[in-house]
Amino acid sequence: MNFDASEYIERSLKSIREILKPEDSDKVLAACSGGVDSTVSAVLVAKALGKPIKAVFIDDGLRRKGEPESVVKLLRGQGLDAFIYDAKKEVLEALKGKTDPEEKRKAFRDAFYTVLGKIIKEMNAGYLVQGTIAADIVETVGGVKTQHNVLEQLGIDTSRYGFKVIEPIKDLYKPQVREVARKLGIPKEISERKAFPGPGLAIRIVGEVTWEKLEILREATRIVEEETKDIESFQNFAVLLDMKATGVRNGKRVYGYILAVRVVSSEDAMTAKFVEIPYDRLRRISQRITSEVPEITRVLYDITDKPPATIEYE
Ligand code: XMP
Repeated sequence: MNFDASEYIERSLKSIREILKPEDSDKVLAACSGGVDSTVSAVLVAKALGKPIKAVFIDDGLRRKGEPESVVKLLRGQGLDAFIYDAKKEVLEALKGKTDPEEKRKAFRDAFYTVLGKIIKEMNAGYLVQGTIAADIVETVGGVKTQHNVLEQLGIDTSRYGFKVIEPIKDLYKPQVREVARKLGIPKEISERKAFPGPGLAIRIVGEVTWEKLEILREATRIVEEETKDIESFQNFAVLLDMKATGVRNGKRVYGYILAVRVVSSEDAMTAKFVEIPYDRLRRISQRITSEVPEITRVLYDITDKPPATIEYE
């Protein structure tokens, strides 16, 4: 079936206006990650109200290098009143000691929404706009994994966090969201931006999340993204495993982390195939990572499709 982005936008503006009036603009906060889903959602609400709305980027310590600053700049470019909120302490505290993937996801979700609830209370607002899409709901409700942003569909009453949720694109899949973004005139940098999970690097660290591991993974992620940016993919990233391996550096034994590199192609994230990267490129990635990130002694390339694997590791 053909998707008509213009018609979708019109319908969406109408249904937002049924809930919110222009005078409500300061009652609304959009949670924005800089990804296409949350940006489209925030832009739709601002457009429906005919006024800029506040957009928060939660700096939870789980983002990539330089991400908070660059995202806020992008959001301001979209006419949103964007700001960074530092929640590193709260989020890392919530993840401390947790090793089970689902427990980590739920702890992240709870810390994330508690922080958002706090900001909304400080703002004296009552509505949270977020970019939940259909795939998030299907996978969470279907029991594949708990996506951080699926609340009401699981029967979680958001009044416990102190706000009502507005999800303008919850019936769309990624390719349709990108079409809507293009139609809204959102720049390519956002409309074509690769998906990055809500819980960020927390689900790319197998086992307990610590600041040391986050810093190691941030460096490795930067290298993997740089070295694969010309290779067509749906997502390209690094995962820090929870085991160590022996290596040798300058004739001396070292014992360091094992990193997995994952590059997949996909249409809608529901299925995915690993990308056949040339060996010389893989060798360069491995050499750069082990020399620029000395805590890592071994680099693996993940050759598993989805299914049976998922795209992320947790
Ligand atoms: P999986 O790992 O389930 O991922 O194959 C499918 C797609 O969803 C992204 N992902 C998430 N996105 N919150 C998000 O916003 C989450 O909790 C979450 N978990 C996975 C993943 O990056 C991939 O694009």
